[in-house]
Amino acid sequence: MNDLSLTILPETADDAASIERLHERTFGPGRFAKTAYRIRETAPHRLDLSFTARIGTLLVASVRLTPVCIGEARGLLLGPLTVEPPFRQRGIGKKLIDRALAEAKARDHRLVVLVGDEPYYAKCGFKRIPKDRTFMPGPVDPARLLVCELVEGAFKGVCGPIRPDWDAVELAAE
Ligand SMILES: CC(C)(COP(=O)(O)OP(=O)(O)OC[C@H]1O[C@@H](n2cnc3c(N)ncnc32)[C@H](O)[C@@H]1OP(=O)(O)O)[C@@H](O)C(=O)NCCC(=O)NCCS
Repeated sequence: MNDLSLTILPETADDAASIERLHERTFGPGRFAKTAYRIRETAPHRLDLSFTARIGTLLVASVRLTPVCIGEARGLLLGPLTVEPPFRQRGIGKKLIDRALAEAKARDHRLVVLVGDEPYYAKCGFKRIPKDRTFMPGPVDPARLLVCELVEGAFKGVCGPIRPDWDAVELAAE
């Protein structure tokens, strides 16, 4: 595979079934028990800030961003990020994250949080959230709760629960 054959595009409603199958293959039924899922099941992700990667017409990877509040601050929850096994280790995951973060920043978002492996996400600018500063609506290993400041200093003074941003959901519905 070379770079020319890879296309990264905003997710569309037509991608839903392919992405659901990708999630099922990757995470299995256990995905519904994940704490981050409790947020994602109640608040829709933003299609314009979620991206797919295709080789030709084949959807091989996906990343989604969902509006959240972190205490009083607004932010986005990144995930799930999934790359089909045969296409891993080729930089597709990083390209999807970089694209999603760039688009979020271009739309004046300031913070992105996620639950994931710090050694992987650190390459895209994520760092560990200090313990007990924020919490999710369920158990999460604090070492896996990460934040990326899209604007320098944006996380300063931010604390409190991470929960769906209902205002953003209502705005999107209008
Ligand atoms: C994690 C995942 C998205 C990475 O996608 P990818 O396209 O293979 O990643 P990239 O090609 O951008 O990066 C590969 C690099 O990241 C490293 N890496 C991959 N997963 C890692 C992890 N969990 N922790 C630390 N490093 C990791 C690889 O070793 C490789 O390192 P190298 O460049 O030094 O060789 C993919 O493996 C995947 O879909 N996994 C299953 C789902 C998952 O765990 N998603 C993340 C949680 S939401």
